Amino acid sequence: MEIRKLSEFVGAELVGIDAGEVISQNIRKEIYKAWADHSVLLLRNQNISPQEFVFFGRQFGVPIIQTLSDMNIQGCPELAYISSEDRDVHGSGKRIIRGTSWHTDHSYAQVPPKATILLAVDIPDKGGDTEFTSSTAAFEALSEEERTNLENKFSTHAYQSSRSPRPMAIRAAEDEKRYPGDVTHPLVRTNPDTGRRSIYVNTVRTECILDMDREKSDALLDRIYAHLDQEKFQYRHKWQSGDIIIWDNRSVLHKANGDYKGKRFLYRMMIEGEKPIL
Ligand code: SIN
Repeated sequence: MEIRKLSEFVGAELVGIDAGEVISQNIRKEIYKAWADHSVLLLRNQNISPQEFVFFGRQFGVPIIQTLSDMNIQGCPELAYISSEDRDVHGSGKRIIRGTSWHTDHSYAQVPPKATILLAVDIPDKGGDTEFTSSTAAFEALSEEERTNLENKFSTHAYQSSRSPRPMAIRAAEDEKRYPGDVTHPLVRTNPDTGRRSIYVNTVRTECILDMDREKSDALLDRIYAHLDQEKFQYRHKWQSGDIIIWDNRSVLHKANGDYKGKRFLYRMMIEGEKPIL
């Protein structure tokens, strides 16, 4: 297995892995370490079936049932999809492009998933890239004073924050019941696999920083988002059909781009994580 870095702070391509094969314990450990170290892993040319994809994903941990159960595959709830045909079926009924602003998956959960895995099936000729920004590199690039200002603070995350730059799809009643109410997470979390710390925020979910005046909290969140939005911390992935990407929701934020025409379809799995720790 060869590991080729994709950018300075985030992403590596793994060469020499066939996701359709059973992966040995040793190689699995190496892949897991590469994933924790680089935050985003890319495997090209993996033309595997949805069943093989589920088998591949299970080798990295326990899959979770993803929210928006209407987009889960019938009979295999741990497998979902992201499609250009997605619709807000419990809301306006209109087409929606999900994920188009910086976020980390399911941060409204007490225990958000550590990994998200996508398998690209149909990819438009132009556009539809996914961008990643390293919230670890962004934290480490702050001055000591700026780091101290964020440490030991907590924020609330909601399914849809009042600050969200985009409307979220309305959830089915049973999906809402699985994640009732807001949750509190540290603003800076430690990744237990690397010991490194990252800024843990979400432009669609983070409502406010606790024990802070609302105006000050809004201003600090805006500064954090601007800091994370710098190209130097980022990797932009141009999809090819057969790509698998596995990212670490603890150390990167990601966003989709809706700038395409035609069909886009990817399968998605999420792997159980741990409660964010200081
Ligand atoms: C997501 O936010 O999980 C989807 C990313 C994408 O469609 O590129």
